[in-house]
Amino acid sequence: MTIPQMEPWLGEEEAAAVNDYMRSGGWLMEHDKTRKFESIIADYTGATHCIVTVNGTVSLTLAALACDVKAGDEVIVPNYTMIATANAASLLGARPVFVDVEPETLCLDINQTEAALTTKTRAIMLVTANGRYPKAGIEAFVDLADRYGLALIEDAAQSLGSHYPDGRHIGSVGKVGSFSFSVPKVITTGQGGCLITHDGELAERLRKLKDFGRASGGSDIHQSIGYNFKFTDLQACVGIEQMKKLDWRIERKKEILLKYHQALHAVGSVKFFEQDLVNTTPWFIDILCERRSDLQEHLKQRGIGTRAMYPPVNKQEAYQRVGDHPVSELVGRQGLWLPSSSQLTDQQIKTVCDAIAEFYS
Ligand SMILES: Cc1ncc(COP(=O)(O)O)c(C=O)c1O
Repeated sequence: MTIPQMEPWLGEEEAAAVNDYMRSGGWLMEHDKTRKFESIIADYTGATHCIVTVNGTVSLTLAALACDVKAGDEVIVPNYTMIATANAASLLGARPVFVDVEPETLCLDINQTEAALTTKTRAIMLVTANGRYPKAGIEAFVDLADRYGLALIEDAAQSLGSHYPDGRHIGSVGKVGSFSFSVPKVITTGQGGCLITHDGELAERLRKLKDFGRASGGSDIHQSIGYNFKFTDLQACVGIEQMKKLDWRIERKKEILLKYHQALHAVGSVKFFEQDLVNTTPWFIDILCERRSDLQEHLKQRGIGTRAMYPPVNKQEAYQRVGDHPVSELVGRQGLWLPSSSQLTDQQIKTVCDAIAEFYS
């Protein structure tokens, strides 16, 4: 593709950091560089603790485990999300309960969330889709979770660089927030994820869970069962350099969305979701469009990559659950991600928009 839907952006700085590290005699496994990466993320998000781990699926699973989600429990999951959100609950033997999302933000609908709670519900996984927050506001979800004694887990995999209107970083408000650093994300470490929290006790549990259940590295005394979900210092070298580029990327992502808006506002077959560009950062450019697969083919022939947005999770073969979820079903039929890399040029955005306008003309 001449204009890919997404591409990684790693520069000389990352290469030099890895090179220097390789010559430093480091052990590669997580140590000082990882601690530094964690402290950079904690500072950036305003969280008291940051615990990095192997990816965003494992971080969600660890979050649920640390919040006492057990086999037989129910976990509220939006029906529009990357399937990892639901799978994290399934991995623990819990049952993801799918709830539809708001049409404007693609985040959980609070009334439908409350209606789906049962005596078995243990946690709510609030996915802040594409950096967006629910219209009901995060405090309404905090209240709901408190009223029913549930853990509010923010799946902020797509929300680095996005804040709630009161200034708090997304992911830092619930009991624990989870991020992903997979390659298409705003910053990447190849694979990678992290958890942020203000709760010191929970942070301690998470650190033990990811390190064989021991209180400190290098010891073979284990107080509890834990696993090996650790990071590597090699990846942390990349992450530290990527974080230095975050502010620029955030600004560029916002500009890119504005340019798409300006160029496509007159195309009636294309609809944008709401995005608060003051507080949040669009990770991918997401639209609803008519005749999606024909449009994709038209763009593909012109060297332009796109990607269909997530299908409704309940309808995936992996779950096959009945349920009426009109918003996630609409997105499953008409949702499309347009080219969204931070390094897209203005000319490339124009090329994409001209090709879309041509298709619908
Ligand atoms: C909302 C959401 N949750 C979880 C994940 C899983 O993260 P990872 O790919 O790092 O396992 C992703 C990844 O795309 C995601 O978008």
